[in-house]
Amino acid sequence: MKRRIHVIHGVNLDQLGKRDPEQYGTFTLSELEGTIKGFASELDFDVTCWQTNHEGEYCEQLHLARERADGLVLNPGAWTHYSYAIRDALEVSGLPAVEVHISEVDSREEWRRQSVIRDVCVGRVQGKGADGYREALEILRANLGE
Ligand code: DQA
Repeated sequence: MKRRIHVIHGVNLDQLGKRDPEQYGTFTLSELEGTIKGFASELDFDVTCWQTNHEGEYCEQLHLARERADGLVLNPGAWTHYSYAIRDALEVSGLPAVEVHISEVDSREEWRRQSVIRDVCVGRVQGKGADGYREALEILRANLGE
């Protein structure tokens, strides 16, 4: 059976295409999700993409993922830097997760260098644009085994 991967985007990522192109490129979220689905089919994953601007909904999606997914790719946007609620919900999921950022957060403002989910993730990818999601899926494949 194919491994089920949930890709969960957080706050403001629905605004891709309108955000600073230097940091985030010019693709929209729906284009990005199409690209991710292409990567997933090459890697033989069953992928679901989802986004919200509401922190509680993001947590609830992580709770549900416990029963519905085998692994997670998370880009929580700015919540990455301070949401202990999302960190706790990720622990509840019990799933291997990879943290992804389209931009290179470690070379931007000081406050973006902090990630409160980093140490509960099996990997972290930043600054690689849409291709970072392929790398995240590859990390999950290695983590989940054949
Ligand atoms: C982001 C980086 C965050 O600092 C920012 O708040 C985002 C997007 C990224 O993908 O580069 O909204 O997670």
